[in-house]
Amino acid sequence: MTNTRTASGNGIPDFPVSRPDSCPFDPDETYTRLRADDPLSLVRCPAGMDAWLVTRYQDIRSVLADPRLSSRAAGSDHMLPSYDGRDPLPGFMIQLDGTEHARLRRLMMGEFTGRRVEALRPYIQKITDEHTDAMLAGSSADLVQDFALPIPSQVICEMLGVPYEDHTAFQHDSEVLTSFEADEAARAAATRRLEDYLGELIEKRLVEPQDDMLSRLIARAAETDRPLTVPELSTLGVLTLVAGHETTANMITLSMAVLLEDPERMAALRAAPETIGTAVKELLRYLTVIQFGLVRYATEDVTVGGTKVKAGEWVVAALPSGNRDERVFPDPDTVDLGRRARTNLAFGFGPHQCIGQQLAEVEMQVALSTLLRRLPGLRLARPLEQADFKLNDIVHGLRRMPVVW
Ligand code: HEM
Repeated sequence: MTNTRTASGNGIPDFPVSRPDSCPFDPDETYTRLRADDPLSLVRCPAGMDAWLVTRYQDIRSVLADPRLSSRAAGSDHMLPSYDGRDPLPGFMIQLDGTEHARLRRLMMGEFTGRRVEALRPYIQKITDEHTDAMLAGSSADLVQDFALPIPSQVICEMLGVPYEDHTAFQHDSEVLTSFEADEAARAAATRRLEDYLGELIEKRLVEPQDDMLSRLIARAAETDRPLTVPELSTLGVLTLVAGHETTANMITLSMAVLLEDPERMAALRAAPETIGTAVKELLRYLTVIQFGLVRYATEDVTVGGTKVKAGEWVVAALPSGNRDERVFPDPDTVDLGRRARTNLAFGFGPHQCIGQQLAEVEMQVALSTLLRRLPGLRLARPLEQADFKLNDIVHGLRRMPVVW
């Protein structure tokens, strides 16, 4: 399975982006060799720039925790020629560093505490049951459109205070933002539409606050010496909307594909529903949907794993490789649903580690347990080899997953 890639010159190898035909869930086979022999190697990204590819678990953690490695182009991705030296947008917290980032992170944290996420569990179960009922009314479905995508999407709308009726438009725009197939102009237009849409909702909340995340962010920031501006708020809203559903939806479908591959493993999980929390962490490790890793930019010289990275150079923390590092996870290419994979890197590490991770895990737990319980005969309608994988998108996943039961 090969992704789009550009030919490189000067002897610098291309960024490894192929997936083996033998297993669509395994990352590029080159990573195993790189971890053993060349843990920091220079690669040419499809956008044309060169970057240090960091492939070992411990080196990835040290990169992601190092304040000298800036996040200023994070989320846009090294596969696109997106970094033009401009400062990040106000409110785009994934790209901000130091105190600017900490200011927004502090304001957002209250929305994602374990207590708040647990309080959402009954709502998540309710909408999951509704989508399951709708599936059970027929005899086949597309697990992506009919189940995996609407659940996290409805949850994030409920949290933010965004009317779910508008989901067709923002789901389309957020897909454009995470796809490499869309060009710069299409991505810019999608961002503008989403920001205008959120901007209107925020203006309304400023006049008439509601019991939702946008209203609470406004109120919380008003108590600090720097209230949030409308552009900051709408960018934060767009980031949460986009980050909050594509990733989780893809994890739900891919996880189900992995479970369906091995009926015995799936039966064991069905028989021990209390182990779903551990199983979800292992699926996050094994699948690592942020499939090309995280980009950082050296603002000073830094030594990583014994190699000097000079100021002005790019670094990519290859999360899929770190999560298959045999030094940390024995027999890493095997799914072991009982494995203690709590420290996996699927949500990143350091100051930007995913703020929504507890929410994502609860959504996955509820979605997978409900499918196992209520659709015991669930199976793929077509063999996995014919499935349409998102090989060129920031988030790995399936475009469609026809199922029957
Ligand atoms: C399985 C699902 C998810 C995965 C794999 C995932 C992965 C990640 C990763 C790897 C990062 C770090 C980016 C970096 O360091 O450059 C991140 C950050 C972030 N994620 Fe998630 N995420 C998921 C679900 C969610 C959800 C459900 C939300 C919100 C509702 C969310 C909101 C965010 C935000 C706002 C950030 C930026 C945090 C910061 O810059 O401090 N994510 N995510």
